[in-house]
Amino acid sequence: MKLNELLKDGIYVLKESNIEECNLKARLLLCYLLGQSKEYLMINDAEEIDTETQIAYYSLLDRLTSGEPLQYITGHQEFMGLDFLVNKNVLIPQPDTEILVQAVIKYLEHNCGKENVKLFENLEKRKINKPKILDLCTGSGAIAISLVKNCPNDVEVVASDVSHEALKVAQINCKKNSAKVKLVESNLFETIEEKFDMIVSNPPYIETDVIPELSMDVQNEPHLALDGGKDGLDFYRKIGENAKKYLTKERNAFLRNRL
Ligand SMILES: C[S@@+](CC[C@H](N)C(=O)[O-])C[C@H]1O[C@@H](n2cnc3c(N)ncnc32)[C@H](O)[C@@H]1O
Repeated sequence: MKLNELLKDGIYVLKESNIEECNLKARLLLCYLLGQSKEYLMINDAEEIDTETQIAYYSLLDRLTSGEPLQYITGHQEFMGLDFLVNKNVLIPQPDTEILVQAVIKYLEHNCGKENVKLFENLEKRKINKPKILDLCTGSGAIAISLVKNCPNDVEVVASDVSHEALKVAQINCKKNSAKVKLVESNLFETIEEKFDMIVSNPPYIETDVIPELSMDVQNEPHLALDGGKDGLDFYRKIGENAKKYLTKERNAFLRNRL
């Protein structure tokens, strides 16, 4: 069977199972299997594909049509231009979460630059030279690592999650992206002992009753990462109620001034 025939068949199999973006996904699966780029598929479309590879491709298509997310099969997801390992123990970082990271970066640019050190003047008193950020519910570490890699000024980032398995993934992602992040296993603030200049979080936020209605691939992500309680806001409430105790004194004063 030729490469273009195999690809055509892959697209057909996915289409029959109502998989969204079947064309792209069939291509990406084949690229992953062959260890080649999308350009390679175009240029070498007449290449003869051996039976073993064909069987392997159909088995990957099977996993996809059974609801396994593409990113769990390939083990990769891009976020803020960085490559992250993902597996069944972590939520696949979503493009819209990049908005949160960008907002933090913008905030630091405006409030922590040389011309406006006032907000962080306490840093000197605390004998540290960079703001400290806590990423609660870090999962794959996508937010924490992107902040370390993209913030205009040096930042110290602590990232926590209740899931030991998720933290193992975050650890690998820190190494993969050469990012220094302190990882802490904690049920929200339970074992957090430090104070921070900023707390960021993308916690679970799906309403419990809505989860069974989500697409199969989302349902295959860890429910621990999805379930935000009856109205989806459990984590926001808990974080809101406790955050003050974990923010530096000066930061609390700043927040009060803005309320
Ligand atoms: C929506 S995912 C977000 C992951 C990552 N921050 C992102 O944006 O891709 C929520 C994360 O919260 C973690 N989590 C769930 N309950 C928690 C708890 N009680 N304390 C800390 N982390 C928790 C899950 O393990 C999961 O990794």
